[in-house]
Amino acid sequence: MASSFQIYGHRGSSGTHPENTLLSFQAAQRAGAHGIELDVQLTKDLVPVVIHDERVERTTNGIGFVKDFLYEDLIRLDAGQTFSNRFQGTSIPSLKTVLEWASSTSLLLNIELKNGVFPYNSLEDRVLDLLTHYKLCDRTILSSFNHYSIQKLAQKNDKIETAVLLMEKIIEPWNYLQRVGAKSLHIEWQAVDEHLMENTQKRDIPVRPFTVNDPLQVSNLQKLGCSAIFTDYPAAAIQTL
Ligand code: G3P
Ligand code: CA
Repeated sequence: MASSFQIYGHRGSSGTHPENTLLSFQAAQRAGAHGIELDVQLTKDLVPVVIHDERVERTTNGIGFVKDFLYEDLIRLDAGQTFSNRFQGTSIPSLKTVLEWASSTSLLLNIELKNGVFPYNSLEDRVLDLLTHYKLCDRTILSSFNHYSIQKLAQKNDKIETAVLLMEKIIEPWNYLQRVGAKSLHIEWQAVDEHLMENTQKRDIPVRPFTVNDPLQVSNLQKLGCSAIFTDYPAAAIQTL
């Protein structure tokens, strides 16, 4: 029987390739992932770019905040070398570049707006405009730890799926989601339990835990009724299906 349980490559196939790069997303697709997850921030000249941290040091050879770089300077940084010399010469992609490539695939997308530390005021509009341009709204989920941003997105576009990101258990998250206007829950996998699954399934709320790198846990979460998981190793997770 075909499974409706989905595997999303977290920051692409970030266990095997430099995270949030086109190479990583292409590796997740080759691995057979149903979807990819990626993080967006804004440059100084307001270009949405795909990078996890507010600062560039951990994943590139540069120094400073993403928000202080002009796009043309940011893409000169090497985002492959810190993972392995094998990937030297890889750039931070713009969201436009990733969406243009994704539109030629059938991948599902989860775009996480990294606007919890810096508000990046126009980020919601810029992301929605690009998704509309590439006709990707119907296969994209927008998520954020900044729930004000999720509320804003849900008010701007009630068709696109929005997800609240949570690190911990909270009381009655199904009621909280309703208050925010979000449709689904993305939650740290160890906070998933039967009580959560029983109550979300009853209300048709998709639950997608992150970041699940142990194949045994992938199977457990599938059995519990989760809709999908995020993993750094999509090839290994696909083997569990
Ligand atoms: O979207 C799930 C996960 O990506 C959230 O945490 O820190 O990996 O972006 P983080
Ligand atoms: Ca993320």
